[in-house]
Amino acid sequence: MINEMFRSRIIGTGSYIPESILTNNHLEQIVATSDDWIVKRTGIKQRRIAKEGQYASDMALKAAEEALVMAGIPASLIDLIVVGTVTPDRQFPSCACTLQHKIGANKAAAMDVSAGCSGFVYALSVANNAIRCAEADYALVVGTEVLSSVTNWNDRGTCVLLGDGAGAVVLRKTTDDTGIRSIHLKSDGSFSDLLYSVDEFAPRPNPNVLSRKNQVKPYYLVMDGHKVFKRAVKCLEEIALMTLERAKVGIEELSLIIPHQANIRIINALIQRLGISTDNVYVTIEKYGNTSSASIPIALNEARKMGRLACLDKLLMVTFGAGLTWGASLVEWNP
Ligand code: ACO
Repeated sequence: MINEMFRSRIIGTGSYIPESILTNNHLEQIVATSDDWIVKRTGIKQRRIAKEGQYASDMALKAAEEALVMAGIPASLIDLIVVGTVTPDRQFPSCACTLQHKIGANKAAAMDVSAGCSGFVYALSVANNAIRCAEADYALVVGTEVLSSVTNWNDRGTCVLLGDGAGAVVLRKTTDDTGIRSIHLKSDGSFSDLLYSVDEFAPRPNPNVLSRKNQVKPYYLVMDGHKVFKRAVKCLEEIALMTLERAKVGIEELSLIIPHQANIRIINALIQRLGISTDNVYVTIEKYGNTSSASIPIALNEARKMGRLACLDKLLMVTFGAGLTWGASLVEWNP
């Protein structure tokens, strides 16, 4: 049961971006596209690509280590790890369990959350509720993606958008009024065909197992970008306003908005609809493209390092993704 006395505060942030850079010029050699088209239509100039053998849990580990250093606590204090990802190392066990072992969080429960690009905000909600129910004192929340492993490199409509990376936060139970003030999540599965994974080898009833014996596993992302774009703008605006209202915070009180980094035109449309200044919105899309669940925690860690967050600033994180899913969280920054 939620205990009204307890809240959770973000006390550490971290991120990891793979070294290898894939520029728009590189992509011009792979598909019929141009730097000019990609920059104008998406705002993306480059993205990072994980090296061979580098899995979601490897990047999560590096991001989590940085977050723990900032939090000033050892991994052994963590009670719960929640990882948002659509590209876990394996279907099971979870990426979170692999991370639990790698980081040495010996007493932590661990689970993955699959919510498309909304994975981090969904994971944050799970961990926040565990803390508010007094089931955890410390939680590690991660968004980590190796989207390059599920990219169809022949599809110019999607391959120019995606990148790899990870971000993490450490949450701590608190009894003061700061920290996570509200989180709201939504979904609408009737739009699942707008953005999904094609997985010919996915678990589904098929008595004819022999016909699948030598199948190579094709697994890649398919998207109706145009329709996703329109829904995204609507969903982001709706959830941002609802989250502010429930937290009783006026839009003019916000110091920083960190939206999911999918397309600069989506972010600009949101800015216009909310009537806010671009100065109050943190954008990384130019450098990293869309890193799905990782995009918000990566941007959060960067914003913090750039001095964009002062104590008691009000921060809104707002996201949408495959599902469709969408969500937002209002945080009073007090690390
Ligand atoms: N290079 C050049 N031309 C291209 C490219 C490309 N990379 N991609 C598409 N085009 C062409 C199309 O073929 C089309 O040509 P046509 O007019 O001759 O048919 C034209 O550009 C316009 O295509 P649209 O799809 O209408 O372009 P749009 O302006 O919608 O931009 C984009 C496409 C960038 C994909 C945009 O729709 C978008 O960003 N959508 C949202 C994506 C998103 O937010 N995804 C979220 C999550 S991803 C995840 O969950 C992991």
